[in-house]
Amino acid sequence: MYPWLLPYTLVLSSCGAFVRAQSFIPSVIPLAVRSPYLNSWAIATKSSLPSTNSSAIFWFNARPTDLLETDWLGRIMVDGTTYQWLGNSSTNENVTVARLVSTNITPTRTIQVIEAGPMNMTITFLSPVEPSDWVKQSLSFSYLAVEAEATDGEAHSVQVYSDIAAQWASPIHTDGVNWTTMTPSDIVYHQFQLSQPTYLSEMLEFPSDGSYYYAMSRGENVTYKTCSHTVCRTNFTRYGTLANVENDVNFRAIDDDWPVFAMSIDLGDIVSTQSSPVVWAVGYNHNPAIQYTVSNDEYQLRSPLFMATYPTIADAIVDFLSDFSDAQSRAIALDNRVQQAASQVTADQGYYTLLSLSTRQAFSSMSITINPDIIGNDWNISDVMIFMKDMGFDGGVNPVDKMYASFPNFLFFNASLGGPLLLPLLQTQFNNASRLNYAATELGQIFPTSVDPTWVADEAVDRMCDIVYSLMRQLTFA
Ligand SMILES: *[C@@H]1O[C@H](CO)[C@@H](O)[C@H](O)[C@H]1NC(C)=O
Ligand SMILES: *[C@@H]1O[C@H](CO)[C@@H](O)[C@H](O)[C@H]1NC(C)=O
Ligand SMILES: *[C@@H]1O[C@H](CO)[C@@H](O)[C@H](O)[C@H]1NC(C)=O
Ligand SMILES: *[C@@H]1O[C@H](CO)[C@@H](O)[C@H](O)[C@H]1NC(C)=O
Ligand SMILES: *[C@@H]1O[C@H](CO)[C@@H](O)[C@H](O)[C@H]1NC(C)=O
Ligand SMILES: *[C@@H]1O[C@H](CO)[C@@H](O)[C@H](O)[C@H]1NC(C)=O
Ligand SMILES: *[C@@H]1O[C@H](CO)[C@@H](O)[C@H](O)[C@H]1NC(C)=O
Ligand SMILES: *[C@@H]1O[C@H](CO)[C@@H](O)[C@H](O)[C@H]1NC(C)=O
Ligand SMILES: *[C@@H]1O[C@H](CO)[C@@H](O)[C@H](O)[C@H]1NC(C)=O
Ligand SMILES: *[C@@H]1O[C@H](CO)[C@@H](O)[C@H](O)[C@H]1NC(C)=O
Repeated sequence: MYPWLLPYTLVLSSCGAFVRAQSFIPSVIPLAVRSPYLNSWAIATKSSLPSTNSSAIFWFNARPTDLLETDWLGRIMVDGTTYQWLGNSSTNENVTVARLVSTNITPTRTIQVIEAGPMNMTITFLSPVEPSDWVKQSLSFSYLAVEAEATDGEAHSVQVYSDIAAQWASPIHTDGVNWTTMTPSDIVYHQFQLSQPTYLSEMLEFPSDGSYYYAMSRGENVTYKTCSHTVCRTNFTRYGTLANVENDVNFRAIDDDWPVFAMSIDLGDIVSTQSSPVVWAVGYNHNPAIQYTVSNDEYQLRSPLFMATYPTIADAIVDFLSDFSDAQSRAIALDNRVQQAASQVTADQGYYTLLSLSTRQAFSSMSITINPDIIGNDWNISDVMIFMKDMGFDGGVNPVDKMYASFPNFLFFNASLGGPLLLPLLQTQFNNASRLNYAATELGQIFPTSVDPTWVADEAVDRMCDIVYSLMRQLTFA
């Protein structure tokens, strides 16, 4: 679907080292893949499968050697012994790397079974794909859910920990960040951002503005802190809690003692988490989400669609966390539907395997937006436009070739997505009196700012776009 998906398929067919009997393992596995700027993956190298000891990376359009780490760590303490089930543990700590048993990738989920001493853990990275609910689709948040069950049937003392590092905010680690921790309703969330953002621009494909979030329900025995990675991680590893850690409010550079945003929960003596997994939500948001040049003398600063429904980001996070169980049911239903449809194309799992990678990638390339009605200080929710980032080539806005390649996906899930996705491209061309005699190939570079359409003569279609746009203006896309 994208140029950078191609290596996966080559790896699949040519390199048996990546294919395990029980499941398909691509060269990078999706963790939180929801939008151009919430795009977290784990590397699998030939010698180490995606594992409990490799760093999460932010996807950007480059070779694996250039990929940039965005530390995301998970640990569990069982009867006083600490195991790591997520992240890169190269520090000299008293922690055992848990044994990865299996990795299973579906269109919406990456599920790992991991053995941590007597506990059998199931780790689910759920990146919702919500084609029927655009408000949900426009909220760039993913789930990390942890379940554990004793293999010996006995009760064990269990504490679980996770953090994300300030590295998520920028690939330039001398950049300064600041942060807050909020406790609305019955949740807790950390928020952090660059202290000196550059609005509507990118650095090595990371956003230079906006905020990242890490959240969980604030049930009994939950502790949360911001601290340097050594303090947070070592304290949990030793004591199984963050209660005795001081909250760090010394805003500083990402690489200055590496601030991390941590949460942990003490589950007490349990045989199993049963039907209450430990759930984290990781997310990103920026507003405006895109600068869209409508014509020579008009541009719009557009917002994520969910903002018309939720007064604050806190309200959205509260709802997102409480929706986990339903979101997981919808995800399973969607996965099953894709699997069933794919089995009609190839009798083996081949096609389903490709769709298991491409589905969330296609949806995560998009930003669903509305235009704030400046006069009424309100939202115009009938004015939905979707902007797609070219994740695999030049970072362009609404690239015609990538839209074309991903259209079967949208037609399958919800054909109504097609209208608002084409609209900005057609509208811009229609509005531009001095446009050329052929169609633009994209809305220009670089996401999230569209400046001028890009016109490439030898990739031209024709003036059909005028006709199509005239027709579209008479249709509604809801
Ligand atoms: C783990 O971290 C070390 C030190 O920060 C780094 O050199 C190494 O490349 C990382 N490995 C992986 C697999 O992320
Ligand atoms: C490491 O943890 C074990 C218990 O799991 C403990 O007995 C030992 O003293 C710890 N070592 C250090 C250096 O903290
Ligand atoms: C984890 O990986 C790092 C290199 O990235 C290595 O230094 C360390 O020894 C590994 N830890 C374990 C327990 O395998
Ligand atoms: C497609 O999206 C529209 C707009 O959100 C919604 O009304 C419709 O129910 C969706 N259709 C399907 C098949 O999901
Ligand atoms: C661990 O959990 C997985 C997934 O739930 C299951 O398939 C496996 O049999 C379990 N292993 C043990 C030893 O309980
Ligand atoms: C953090 O930085 C942002 C800019 O990204 C700024 O608007 C905000 O006021 C700062 N917050 C604190 C607590 O310094
Ligand atoms: C735990 O954190 C406190 C302060 O926040 C620090 O003084 C102490 O050394 C930490 N303990 C460990 C084992 O890192
Ligand atoms: C809270 O922690 C205590 C001490 O470990 C434990 O006994 C209790 O069961 C925990 N409560 C919950 C709701 O997990
Ligand atoms: C809302 O958007 C629709 C569709 O673009 C447009 O027709 C209408 O004029 C807009 N309303 C306001 C108040 O701007
Ligand atoms: C309009 O199209 C011309 C090409 O004919 C292009 O040079 C110009 O940048 C476009 N203007 C806008 C505002 O898109």
